[in-house]
Amino acid sequence: MLYAMSESKERYLVTSALPYANGPLHVGQIVGAYLPADVFVRYLRARGHDVVYVCGTDEHGVPITLTAEREGKSPREVVDYWYAHMKETFSRFNVSFDNFSRTSTPLHAKNTQLFYAKLKEGGYITEAESRQMYSPTEGRFLPDRYVEGTCPVCGYKEARGDQCDNCGSWYEAYELIEPHSKVTGGPVEVRETTHLYLDLPSFSGRLKGWISDQQHWRDSVRNFVLGIIEGGLEQRPITRDIGWGVPVPEPGFEDKRFYVWFDAPIGYVSSTMEWAELAGDPDRWREYWQEPDTRMVHFIGKDNTVFHAVVWPAMLMGAGEDGEEPFILPYDVPANEFMNLEVVVDGEPRQMQMSTSRNLAVWLHEALDRFPADPLRFYLASNLPETGDVAFSWREFQSRVNSDLIGNLGNYINRVLSFTEKYAGGELSRPEELPREALAAFEDFKEIEARYEKKMLAPRPREALGELLALGRRANQFFDSEAPWKTRKEDPERTAITLYACAALLGSIAYHAAPYVPEAAEELREFFTGPIARVTDLEPPSGYRVTGARPLFSRIEDAEVAAAEEQLSRAARGEAVSPG
Ligand code: 2FM
Ligand code: ZN
Repeated sequence: MLYAMSESKERYLVTSALPYANGPLHVGQIVGAYLPADVFVRYLRARGHDVVYVCGTDEHGVPITLTAEREGKSPREVVDYWYAHMKETFSRFNVSFDNFSRTSTPLHAKNTQLFYAKLKEGGYITEAESRQMYSPTEGRFLPDRYVEGTCPVCGYKEARGDQCDNCGSWYEAYELIEPHSKVTGGPVEVRETTHLYLDLPSFSGRLKGWISDQQHWRDSVRNFVLGIIEGGLEQRPITRDIGWGVPVPEPGFEDKRFYVWFDAPIGYVSSTMEWAELAGDPDRWREYWQEPDTRMVHFIGKDNTVFHAVVWPAMLMGAGEDGEEPFILPYDVPANEFMNLEVVVDGEPRQMQMSTSRNLAVWLHEALDRFPADPLRFYLASNLPETGDVAFSWREFQSRVNSDLIGNLGNYINRVLSFTEKYAGGELSRPEELPREALAAFEDFKEIEARYEKKMLAPRPREALGELLALGRRANQFFDSEAPWKTRKEDPERTAITLYACAALLGSIAYHAAPYVPEAAEELREFFTGPIARVTDLEPPSGYRVTGARPLFSRIEDAEVAAAEEQLSRAARGEAVSPG
């Protein structure tokens, strides 16, 4: 296979945003950062690239401490529970991380402190005093969003800490009249507190130059980020008055911790180091973080863009200046838009925003209790928010699965396999020559395969899925026009040749479907023997064998969809119980 080997093999480090270990995963998160990454990674691996795919739970931050208080637990208990829950849910959904770590490990604390030390050495850390809201009864500082009071502009009584929902004014929390804690209702006061800051403005020029060069990034991401930089960057606080998080190695900061968004992206490094350690090659993480030709791709939801495309690259630039090998910068930051929900209210479908606090969401573990992973992955992949917001709809799930996955791809696969078993004794051997029609189908396949690859590498796995369906349509068309059910009587030899060509197309469909529906691809192996490969790379095998074939997918029934829809409608009516 000379041609395949001469193609260049790249080294990739792929990451998905570290989810907060503070509740179950919902489909909105899945389409933002996990499914597109997993599909991409599975394809890269199949093409022979060198890929490491890391993730883990984000275990610090105020919301986790509040959950712990509400539930009468320690933060440690909360994150232990959700770490295990998420890890299991990802595995049920077949997300193929090479390592799934967590940010509360000693290794990660050490790395965070090391990053800090390097940034400080480079002169990128400043210290300043600020005024913040303190709750004497709770004995702690409160973040703005946990403070409420009367709006200093319009007098609205339930104004938030940093913004009034009534008149839209922005202010500092200490400007509120009669500010009080949202958690306890008790009064809060202003106190001075000292924090460390990342000197982001000093990276402005470098960031701007670097991002302008990233012509392969999504325009939406590049333009958004350039706009932020041009608008002027500010010093960013990297510490918080909180007791849960990575300790700050500075005198006077014993009661403070690093801000969760300072340590979280460093979690990608820690997870890669842990992977290398577990693989018995502890230094190997360096290849992925320090070799300039490594392509590091961060899959995220769009709300995480500033952190990944501005703050994190600045941290990488600043931490790599001490004479050691510098860190590489992200090769791409494919940020996805949001997923809304279609909820049936009084018999009418309506678009609503997901709300985790109101339990108005499609939780992944519950969806997996109802349906296998493959059809869920297929539907979600066909509906990824790559270019704009999308909506999740159980009805659309049913129709996409039944018509595209089963009607198009599954139907083709079934027909070829069952004909081969019934009319060719399950054996197809390589003919002397393939007929013109088969060669034409092969040529079309090669073109579609090239388009698929281009879209997949963009990375736009949703668009690539469109090409997969094009492969299915072309194959069905070939099958229909060759009409093996007719020729089998008058010309059994021709029928066997047709089916041999069909099996080659099937191998390509399975190859390109595998990243989306990995369980089916594996199951196919149990009854289909022959190359699962692109037609582009195919060395026609001496034969194919089929034994005991069975359908790979089951139809989604009306009653199943009705039950799933009803659950959402109940949540929308406020009747739902809390998840978990
Ligand atoms: O928004 C979130 O869910 C964050 N936990 C994402 C962190 S991504 C990375 F930086 F770790
Ligand atoms: Zn107001």
